[in-house]
Amino acid sequence: MISNYLLEISYLIGSVSFIAGLKLMGHPKTARKGNIIGAVGMTIAIFGTIFLHHNFNPLIITLIFAAIGLGTIVGWMTAKRVPMTKMPELVSLFNGMGGACAALISIIEYYHSQNHSSDTHQNIGTIIAILGGMIIGSVSFSGSIIAFLKLNGTMKKPVRLPSYNIINILILIATLVLAIYFSIIDNHFTMLMLVFAFAILYGVLFTIPIGGADMPVVISLLNSFTGLAAAFGGFLYDNKIMLTGGILVGSAGTLLTLAMCKAMNRPLSNVIFGAFGGSSAGESTDTKGNIKDISASDLAVLLAYSKKVVIVPGYGLAVAQAQHTIKELEDLLESKGVEVKYAIHPVAGRMPGHMNVLLAEANVSYDKLVEMEEINPEFEQTDVVLVIGANDVVNPAAKTDPSSPIYGMPILEVDKAKHIIVNKRSMSAGYAGIDNLLFYNPKCSMYFGDAKKALTDLISEIKSL
Ligand code: TAP
Repeated sequence: MISNYLLEISYLIGSVSFIAGLKLMGHPKTARKGNIIGAVGMTIAIFGTIFLHHNFNPLIITLIFAAIGLGTIVGWMTAKRVPMTKMPELVSLFNGMGGACAALISIIEYYHSQNHSSDTHQNIGTIIAILGGMIIGSVSFSGSIIAFLKLNGTMKKPVRLPSYNIINILILIATLVLAIYFSIIDNHFTMLMLVFAFAILYGVLFTIPIGGADMPVVISLLNSFTGLAAAFGGFLYDNKIMLTGGILVGSAGTLLTLAMCKAMNRPLSNVIFGAFGGSSAGESTDTKGNIKDISASDLAVLLAYSKKVVIVPGYGLAVAQAQHTIKELEDLLESKGVEVKYAIHPVAGRMPGHMNVLLAEANVSYDKLVEMEEINPEFEQTDVVLVIGANDVVNPAAKTDPSSPIYGMPILEVDKAKHIIVNKRSMSAGYAGIDNLLFYNPKCSMYFGDAKKALTDLISEIKSL
């Protein structure tokens, strides 16, 4: 039938667009285009599925469009209103919804196959796809909701039950044993619901102990779980585009997880077995020393007479929305013959690539953004390091304090520069909730204030020199 060919073609267009879109998303310059191409491909595949499917039922179509309409309005309004710094929370929430959808598809398909099949013992392939989608989707759902609560500050401290690693592994084993029992011995709805409950519980227990600076790894891992769960849905429906989309999300999420693990110096096995996060020690240090602060006029002189300045942007720069002001400072310093670069830590901010996206918005040239491994050897030849709203990513405890929750995480080695200037509003801790001895380094001066206001004052001082 012609509609079957058209459906296959729409899936082919969808798959090619996903792959092309992902490729384009690999660079900030082309990321927006990649996003649009992926979305157009997805729309074609969705409309193809709705209108070219052999079971064209007007009531179902109406329901589908009502759901799409509702989802579009809620999604559009939320995405429009949410500030950039809250994006990771939104991503976690949306990711959780994806996991929930995959789990619901599995439950509905179980019900469907029970009621529409003459053989109550379904084939093992279907059962595996139902269980795979439901377990992984449920873990992703409950884990993402906990990640959302952690990111928005509702859940401030990691919750660690006594021997939480052992409890988590036991719950995981129990979930798998129940799933096997369901597949081989008792495939009734109650048993499926028991597996579902255990998977939800595992998602919660897996995410609550995670603290410190390890959340980025977990978020990308949960993202890959949702992709995998959707791929199981593709098996269930024998739907190629769902399978391709799920596999692409799953593999992209896995690659991101591995990249994050590398950036955080955590082996993936630690993530999977929930053994990371470290202790919450390292928060207090008895011999901190004194802090110095610096005025805008003194800093203006220091910067204007430097040869090389490296800016370290962090979460505070994003909160203050000071990306355009920092670009203005960069232009001003360059007009005075100062070489300016930006040092980008892989987990600075609150989402992968946060600083790149933020600075791209202010038209900072991409070749000025230097990754951690490349910039670290350059700090020794740097006159001034200007740390703007960053904290954990420059905390020396990651190298020197084995009891610190961020111990082992590679950092920007700003203490090698001749002068260190840190701009933040107070002495408060960053995301990991720990003190930062860098601020007490004799080479370091604090330039207190909201990043946007402080940088604006600094710019006028430099102009008046
Ligand atoms: P943080 O360690 O979170 O420190 C940000 C600092 O910005 C705070 O200490 C805060 O100090 C300051 N700040 C807040 N508002 C400010 C403003 N308006 N003006 C000036 N300063 C302001 O940031 P970071 O160094 O970028 O490190 C990121 C952390 O987030 C890491 O621990 C990372 O693991 C975690 N994380 C990252 C991701 C990804 S994927 N990037 C995802 C989840 C979590 P004051 O309050 O004193 O101003």
